[in-house]
Amino acid sequence: MRLTGKKELIKVIKDRIEKNGSISFRDFMDMALYYPELGYYTSSKSKIGGYGDFFTASELDRAYGELLAKQFVEIFEKKLTDKPFQIVELGAGKGYLAYDILNYLKENHKNIFDNTEYIIIEKSPYHIDIQKDLLKDFKNVIWVQDIIDFEDNSINGVIFSNELFDSFPVHLIRKIDGKIYEVFITLDKDDTVREILKEANEDILDYLKELNINLPEGMQTEINLDAKDYIQKIGKKLNKGYVITVDYGFPSAELYKPYRMRGTLLCYHKHKYSENFYENVGLQDITSHVNFSALKYYGELAGLKYLGFTDQAHFLINLGLIDILNELQQRDDYESYERINRLKTLVLPKGMGEKFKVLVQYKNILNPNIKGLELLPYQSERYRL
Ligand SMILES: C[S@@+](CC[C@H](N)C(=O)[O-])C[C@H]1O[C@@H](n2cnc3c(N)ncnc32)[C@H](O)[C@@H]1O
Repeated sequence: MRLTGKKELIKVIKDRIEKNGSISFRDFMDMALYYPELGYYTSSKSKIGGYGDFFTASELDRAYGELLAKQFVEIFEKKLTDKPFQIVELGAGKGYLAYDILNYLKENHKNIFDNTEYIIIEKSPYHIDIQKDLLKDFKNVIWVQDIIDFEDNSINGVIFSNELFDSFPVHLIRKIDGKIYEVFITLDKDDTVREILKEANEDILDYLKELNINLPEGMQTEINLDAKDYIQKIGKKLNKGYVITVDYGFPSAELYKPYRMRGTLLCYHKHKYSENFYENVGLQDITSHVNFSALKYYGELAGLKYLGFTDQAHFLINLGLIDILNELQQRDDYESYERINRLKTLVLPKGMGEKFKVLVQYKNILNPNIKGLELLPYQSERYRL
C-alpha cells in the first residue's frame, strides 16, 4: 500500500524513515496523529461530529454531561468536600462535555459550581481554540498543558476522560513461532509501505509478562505503552479523589481472544472505518481498543485503587438516565422525541451502551462506593479485569 495523505506530513515521515532506515508503527502513528501542526489531531480540520470523521457521546446530547455532573455532585457532597473541588478533564475535544457539566452545576448546584476549578488538559491546539471559545463565559476553567505540570499528590477531585486512551499511539506486535515481534515500517519504490518485523523490546515483553498475556500464535495486536505511562502519571498527581475513564475496550482476557487475530486497530475517515493505516495520513483518525486490565494494574502500582468496571449503559442508568427519558416522554413534542432517540444510542447494546466501558479508580477515600456503580452488568469474563 502506498503512503498517501497530507503531503507535508508524508515528507516528514519519509525523511524520518530515510534517516533511520525504518520507524516503529508506534512512531508512525504518533506522527500521523500528533506531529505539530500537521498531525490529525494537531491540525485544523473538523474531526468530531457530522462534518468530521466520528461522533462521541458528548456530541450526541447534553444529558451525557449532565449525568456525569450528577456523579461529580455525589462525589463532592459525600466523599470529599475539599475546596476547591477540582475536575480535571483529559482530552476534552470540542469542549462539549465541559460545557454541559459546568452549565448543569451552575444551574443546579451553585455552591459546588462556585467551588469548582475545571481544568482541561488537551494536546491539540486546534481543539484548545474551540474549547476556549465555547467556554469563554466560565471564569473557573483553566488549561494546563500536560498532567506532568502538576505537583505530585496535588489534585483533589475527579480526573476523568472520554475517549482519551483510544487515541494514543500504540506499538503493533505479532506473535510468530512463539516469539513476539514489533512492526516497523519502511518505504520501497513509489512510497510503497513495507512492514518489517523486529524482535520486541523489553518494555513490550515486560508488559505482556506483567499482565499475564499469552497471545494466540499468529496474532497481530496493539500494546498501548503510552496508556501505561499516563495512568501512572495520573496516580502520582492525584492526592485524593477519583479517576473515571470512559472508552471502548476490554479486559486483557477478552482483548486477545483468537477471534481478534488482527487486533482492534482501525482508521476513521468521514464516518467510514478501514484498516488502511497508511492512507489519508494526517487526515484520518487511527484508534485502538483500550486494555482496561492494564489501566487497573498500572494504576494500582501508582496508588490508584480499583473501585469498579461497568458499561456506559449501566453507569448512565444508575445516574438517572431513565428519569430524563420519562421527563422527555411526558413533554410529548418533536424535539423531545429526537432527544429520546439520541439518548437511546447512549445505552443500547448495539450503540454505545455496551461497547463503551467505565473504569473507576480512587485514592485516599473512605467508603468509596459511588452511584454510577450501584447496579452492575453480569460480571462475566468481559467485565473481570
Ligand atoms: C477522540 S478525542 C475525544 C474528545 C472528547 N473527549 C470527546 O468525547 O468528544 C481525543 C482527544 O484527546 C486529545 N488527546 C490525545 N492525547 C492527549 C494527551 N496525551 N493529553 C491531552 N489530550 C490528548 C486529542 O487531541 C483529542 O482532543
